[in-house]
Amino acid sequence: MAMLWRWIPASDPNGPVYYKGWYHLFYQYNRNAAVWGNIAWGHAISRDLVHWIHLPIAMVPDSWYDVNGVWTGSATILPTGELVMLYTGSTNVTTQVQCLAFPADPSDPLLLRWFKHPSNPVILSPPPTVLPHDFRDPTTAWVDPFDPSAFLLAIGSKDDTDGQHAGVAYVYRTHDFLSYELLSGRLHEVTGTGMWECVDFFPISVGGKIGLETSEWAEDGVRHVLKVSLDDDRHDYYAIGTYNASKNRWMADDKKKDVGIGLRYDWGKFYAAKTFYDKEKRRRVLWGWVGETDSERSDVSKGWASLMSIPRTVLFDSQTGSNLLFWPVEEVDLLRTTVYHFAGVTVSPGSVVPLSTPAAAQVDIEAEFELDPSALAAAALEVDVGYNCTTSGGAAGRGLLGPFGLLVLADKDLAEQTAAYFYVARAADGGLRTHFCQDETRSSRASDIVKSVVGHPVPVIDGEALTVRILVDHSIVESFAQGGRSAITSRVYPTQAFNAARVFIFNNATNASVKAKSVKVWEMDSTFNHNHREQNLRC
Ligand code: FRU
Repeated sequence: MAMLWRWIPASDPNGPVYYKGWYHLFYQYNRNAAVWGNIAWGHAISRDLVHWIHLPIAMVPDSWYDVNGVWTGSATILPTGELVMLYTGSTNVTTQVQCLAFPADPSDPLLLRWFKHPSNPVILSPPPTVLPHDFRDPTTAWVDPFDPSAFLLAIGSKDDTDGQHAGVAYVYRTHDFLSYELLSGRLHEVTGTGMWECVDFFPISVGGKIGLETSEWAEDGVRHVLKVSLDDDRHDYYAIGTYNASKNRWMADDKKKDVGIGLRYDWGKFYAAKTFYDKEKRRRVLWGWVGETDSERSDVSKGWASLMSIPRTVLFDSQTGSNLLFWPVEEVDLLRTTVYHFAGVTVSPGSVVPLSTPAAAQVDIEAEFELDPSALAAAALEVDVGYNCTTSGGAAGRGLLGPFGLLVLADKDLAEQTAAYFYVARAADGGLRTHFCQDETRSSRASDIVKSVVGHPVPVIDGEALTVRILVDHSIVESFAQGGRSAITSRVYPTQAFNAARVFIFNNATNASVKAKSVKVWEMDSTFNHNHREQNLRC
């Protein structure tokens, strides 16, 4: 299952696009060291989003306007089929300007060579009141709904006037990608959220079945998602809302969960994410940068740092109407080989059940849990007065109805283990409240690692079983609860459990049994070659 990404010193995904039969992913890349700096654009291609081929570096910092870094940007396919790339250049005086690049040979499906436009930078100055260091990461452009010959795009920023510390997204209009007009007003802003990096803005179908092209525009059945990466807390936040193009304004459906203060793409290590529309499969696909949580010294000595998440499809959750669904692209399923199926396993309070699978450092797991109705009645005794994944004792804490779930990348003595689990309690309004968390605190015996417990309440519809899918790949665990309403990514660095990793079901509830109705563990084919495997084993 591991992808070539596992070995690239990289950060943000850049300009993902489907072009002439190939998926392209560019990414922030330092050719000189496994630390951030000297940023160029790496480039890889794939036919299926799972098997990847590295191509030569697409763009290097070689001009006054990007000599301090070819920073993050996005691809736009024009209605004519032409491809343009907008990115941020960090200039010779480290100000941030916007630049245009295009394929040297548009007939080349591999997009091997890139030209930077001689008119660069195409946007030299930020909007008035914006500092030149707070102006970056242009989005994919969409067609202006009121003028089909024009394109609109957003750029992230911040406004510190009057101590607001507001994150801001500005919108520019262009006809030719060379000259730009700043639209009056702001697409959106949220006080207190600070610099908005890597803004993403796209339509979503409320039918919840297909993805939409970025320019798709309709009064009915279409909402717009605004995503921002908060430089202050290094998480990706989104909200679903209404885009009013005539007013250059987007409004969150739920002000209390506005962008930057509410929902996250992923509650773990996942940042600077970007989507693209895959017209082949009519889906919107999301990539996120998953950084390291070990020390920089370890990264330098192992010679690589950071990886990309498994690509995830993004859909509107038509059942809740209030969140997105994130799910590994269907091509990941093709890597599944042998499956081990465990059905109807009852796990009594305070116990751990090993699953007899072979070494499981690369597995795909799907599990479904059932709570017995008497346990749910008993839960009425325990009102959730502030259970919090991060501060409530992790997987080892004990409550009436949780934590319970799976331990992965565990050694036989459970000295090392990463727990993905649920915790169920009674909400103040009488309904159930389910938290989905991941506990990294026992994931490794190594000490130079940041280990946390992360997670958040996940919506569960009445009568629904609790379900989780977990993709495990040596040093990364990507979990998706309730069909993708909540995702959590953890970087983990098992020492003992690295080659002999096992899977366990656990239940730390004090007096309720939990039934694992079904747990399927698939072994996964490797997508990578022998050299890469050796490199991985060294980490
Ligand atoms: C986000 C970010 C972007 C910037 C790039 C530089 O991680 O800081 O805002 O363009 O990385 O590498």
